[in-house]
Amino acid sequence: MIRASIISTGSYVPDTVITNNDLERIVDTSDDWIVERTGIRERRIVDSSQATSDLACEAARNALKKAHLRPKDIDLIIVATCTPDMAFPSTACIVQDKLGARHAAAFDINAACSGFVYGLHLVSSLIRSEAHKRILLVGAEVLSRVTDWQDRTTCVLFGDGAGAVIVEGTREKRGIISTHIHSDGSLGDLIMLPGGGSRFSCSMETILKKLHFIKMKGNETFKVAVRTLEELATRTMEENNLDPSQLSLLIPHQANIRIIQATARRLNLTEDKVFVNIEKYGNTSAASIPIALDEAIRAGRVIAGEYILLEAFGGGLTWASALVKW
Ligand code: UT7
Repeated sequence: MIRASIISTGSYVPDTVITNNDLERIVDTSDDWIVERTGIRERRIVDSSQATSDLACEAARNALKKAHLRPKDIDLIIVATCTPDMAFPSTACIVQDKLGARHAAAFDINAACSGFVYGLHLVSSLIRSEAHKRILLVGAEVLSRVTDWQDRTTCVLFGDGAGAVIVEGTREKRGIISTHIHSDGSLGDLIMLPGGGSRFSCSMETILKKLHFIKMKGNETFKVAVRTLEELATRTMEENNLDPSQLSLLIPHQANIRIIQATARRLNLTEDKVFVNIEKYGNTSAASIPIALDEAIRAGRVIAGEYILLEAFGGGLTWASALVKW
């Protein structure tokens, strides 16, 4: 039996740091409020020359280098993003060109913050069916360009970044064991970016109404996220006949420290079994899990032969998990 195995990871965040104190000077907020309600202390944002594909390429080159692979060794590129460089060509095609990955097909997927875990679901099937041999999956976002910097309810939350993984088949008893994806479009209005698509195409009116910025009903989203992720994590373990105590690490989407702690409590996981970097980067949407995975590996917290659980929640609404035996 072939399983999909993550053979390498890479990540990239831009150099510019925006601290909570910087935000205190822009909107009516405080470091105390942001830390207490979200766990975020600072976030990274791009400079004026950078777009999502630039971040994605940095993360991808990093992953390729660690795997001693060349871009032409990749046969498929998938970029999970809700902030593509442009509507089309896809960010994945732009990445393919920039990397020089001339043997790869390329396309984007959008499941908002769950995009990377949705990507793992897809990649796992494509590798198991032997449709592709070696896939580059990137989660990359430039949320700072779709953030309303005058809206304190959203601008304190988001950041920019990218994370990448390279996935191959293995016949060993490890790799991506199971993936679980879910959606509820009836709750789509809880987090949305309405402007710039075919419903509200760019016009003076959409700009004046600020429709090109993220709109979020934070507190309602929070409640659904806690409930849904607790259920999802528990069910993922049950369906694999595993007890949560058999997990060596939970790598959750970094949206809010209180959501992360609620899932950890439900699984009875101690702090050392939960990877958190939200204080440094805020919510980087589809990039958050691959950045966290890359950092967790570099910190020696992902151990060969052990189980890790990835789980995400985001706009759509969407939520997803992936159980991996490293
Ligand atoms: O990644 C995808 C999914 N996204 C999420 O999962 C995010 C989910 N939501 C959250 O993380 C939280 O709901 C937030 C961090 C966004 C907000 O925290 P909350 O505890 O749900 O606060 P709230 O929205 O209930 O607001 C409480 C108060 C309000 O004031 P009043 O009405 O009580 O006077 C807000 O106006 O906090 C106020 N507030 C702020 N105060 C200072 C909202 N934002 C700020 C702010 N600084 N930045």
